[in-house]
Amino acid sequence: MSQKQNLFDLEAQFQSLSADAGLALIAELFPGKVVFSTSLGQEDQVITQLIATQNLPIQIFSLDTGRLFPETLELLARTESKYKTQIKVYYPETASVEKWVADKGINGFYESVENRKSCCYVRKVEPLKRALAGNAVWVTGLRAEQSANRSDMKRIEWDEANQIIKYNPLLDWTFDQMITYIEEQRIPYNPLHDQGFISIGCAPCTRAILPGEDARAGRWWWEDSKKECGLHAK
Ligand code: ADX
Ligand code: SF4
Repeated sequence: MSQKQNLFDLEAQFQSLSADAGLALIAELFPGKVVFSTSLGQEDQVITQLIATQNLPIQIFSLDTGRLFPETLELLARTESKYKTQIKVYYPETASVEKWVADKGINGFYESVENRKSCCYVRKVEPLKRALAGNAVWVTGLRAEQSANRSDMKRIEWDEANQIIKYNPLLDWTFDQMITYIEEQRIPYNPLHDQGFISIGCAPCTRAILPGEDARAGRWWWEDSKKECGLHAK
């Protein structure tokens, strides 16, 4: 059977499963080879809760770009302590960051989309590749509703850039569904969400949004781009 056919079958199998059942099944199908990337955003906090409360053997990791909000790092510590679990943290290569800053300036990402993407590459995409290496499945908190760019993603898909199966258990969840779940389960979340921040990335590249604005409008707000950093290349 071809890899495409296998993925097609897997996608069909996962279509009817809830997020908690899907996470349990993926961990069983690929023992020791499933990892979950958390940005500590609301979606990711839901997934961490589902993994931790079922005690699933899925390694949780985060990419610390060096430019995150202090609130995000504080939430990382709080999450580890609540769930008594370790979130593995990956950092950019020191030499690459030093070179980027020497060439472009500490905030050189404001100057062009090209600069911004190369900063995202050094600080996120390269560390992500190291985090995924040797694994079979990458779990993410992507939701279709987040942007037009994400609306046609699948629950299970092949990530060509990283040569790995990608599993998006919350793909069909609505924003309201997620917030209700967080409240009901008393899941810890970033206090910045209560100040109008929806999608939270690096501090210099994220702002709060106004009522009625697109959920990702606060990311790289000065750009008129697809607002993706390269982690989720299509
Ligand atoms: S991004 O591409 O714009 O940065 P977004 O913030 O929407 O992504 O998050 C989508 C998913 O990408 C998250 O659910 C998470 O799985 C992954 N992700 C994004 N940023 C990070 C990060 N700093 N560390 C780990 N995973 C991340
Ligand atoms: Fe650099 Fe901004 Fe991308 Fe963070 S979001 S890696 S600071 S360009």
